[in-house]
Amino acid sequence: MPLNIQQMGFTEEIQRRRTFGIISHPDAGKTTLTEKLLLFGGAIQEAGAVKSNKIKKGATSDFMEIERQRGISVATSVLAFVYKNKKINILDTPGHKDFAEDTFRTLTAVDSVIVVIDVAKGVEEQTEKLVEVCRMRNIPIIVFINKLDREGKDAFDLMDEVEQKLGLKVCPLSFPIGMGYDFQGIYNIYEKKINLFSGEHKQTVSEGTEFNDISVPELDTMIGEKAAECLREELELVQEVYPRFNVESYLEGSLQPVFFGSALNNFGVKELLDCFIEIAPVPQAKKAEERLVDAREEKMSGFVFKIHANMDPNHRNRLAFVKIVSGTFKRNAPYLHVRLDKKLKFSSPNAFFAEKKEIVEVSYPGDIVGIPDTGNFKIGDTLTEGEVLHFKGIPSFSPEHFRYVNNADPLKAKQLYKGLDQLMDEGVAQLFTLNLNGRKIIGTVGALQYEVIQYRLEHEYGAKCQYENLPVHKACWVAPEDEKSEEFKAFKRVKQRYLANDKQGKLVFLADSAFSIQMTQDKYPSVKLHVTSEF
Ligand code: G4P
Repeated sequence: MPLNIQQMGFTEEIQRRRTFGIISHPDAGKTTLTEKLLLFGGAIQEAGAVKSNKIKKGATSDFMEIERQRGISVATSVLAFVYKNKKINILDTPGHKDFAEDTFRTLTAVDSVIVVIDVAKGVEEQTEKLVEVCRMRNIPIIVFINKLDREGKDAFDLMDEVEQKLGLKVCPLSFPIGMGYDFQGIYNIYEKKINLFSGEHKQTVSEGTEFNDISVPELDTMIGEKAAECLREELELVQEVYPRFNVESYLEGSLQPVFFGSALNNFGVKELLDCFIEIAPVPQAKKAEERLVDAREEKMSGFVFKIHANMDPNHRNRLAFVKIVSGTFKRNAPYLHVRLDKKLKFSSPNAFFAEKKEIVEVSYPGDIVGIPDTGNFKIGDTLTEGEVLHFKGIPSFSPEHFRYVNNADPLKAKQLYKGLDQLMDEGVAQLFTLNLNGRKIIGTVGALQYEVIQYRLEHEYGAKCQYENLPVHKACWVAPEDEKSEEFKAFKRVKQRYLANDKQGKLVFLADSAFSIQMTQDKYPSVKLHVTSEF
């Protein structure tokens, strides 16, 4: 079927989009790398302009008061820029340990990720958790090993560590020449070029010298005999040990290219970006419960993956972040809010460019639209042009901390429950109701979240709460093979004290230890226990 001009424009818009997330353990260099990528896109003029997940400069009005006080942003921001005619959307993820749940959820809206690893620290805990989720979803991953200007681990040892701890199959596409004090530059395996480090490259990067054959004596003159010999040996080893790069394996999540560099010194970043725009996936089809939705479909569909609350403390307004999956999203067009079964029009959808947001007329698959909201949206909500679709892949993960929440002001019970309800819809934490007595339990990924909730309940809803500790290790979602089986009945009877419902009404077993999960699983093998709500 021939495409008309409008459709061609639409297909091109999809083809030029790359939507990805940068994940790392705090301090590995995610913010610095993001900033350097924006510099390449000309979206910012100087380094130090982006403090997307750390507020080091004067805070902007975009952040809620408590974040200002704590100096941590709870927001997952979107940073977009254009590089070589590609529209790049970076979904930045809160790096702070306390906000891992936010980060997990962002992974449902990306088409690929870049994992940043500190050359000295190697693979750290938060990276392991996040990469596990990417692996479960076969999200294409590129690894960037950062801070090569410092002494760190040997490149081969580090790649072994990445393979073992992260369960990846790596394939270096660039290789460092020396490290730390001896760091001379990067050999770009992908383009067969050498780029030498001068330490003065912070804002710009030279094009590099091409080396189709590294055996030539010019290499010795350039980087010194010893380093040249070493590089030749190392590249030979790379060829022997690692598989050849091929885009298909990367795209299906079975091979992960590795780049080396120093984000701070803007070194190795261009190699990464140039390769990224060439190989990274365009907006992908997404599974809905009903069917697979292709990005190229004409009809608009999208889902809410993040709600950013309280942009303006005087109004209780929020910004719902919608990832466009298919079709074009148009300002003022009527869209079906599937859960509410209601048509809604959005007069001021925001698009993001660098750190700014502005009202946008049209957005395409891969883009993120920020919709001002007064309470219509929950995480996971779907918008369509009329079709009933429910996008999959936004699971809840078991919280790490659990506390009873009690009302501290009897006259404000209604406000408390309304506040809790709305905060949970934003995905701030998870609420469980004990089957035995109806007591409410809040589960969070980080302990700081309890203070955030208490503060927001008081300032936004006029309600007061108190917490009471609860020794729960993990919440396990319960999936019996047969709801009517004697085994399931026995499980429910014996474990009654530990059973609760999550906000969707799903049955959850609150286990007090890893041992108890194992024991329970052994005793009731047909009652499956899962630490995520989707399995
Ligand atoms: P994050 O977002 O992953 O948490 O890390 P961020 O970029 O903020 O980087 C953490 C620290 O590491 C920062 O130093 C940053 O300057 C430094 N850094 C990033 N990339 C490199 C690199 O390639 N080489 C070296 N040597 N350092 C790097 P800081 O002192 O914590 O903050 P700042 O005062 O420099 O902003």
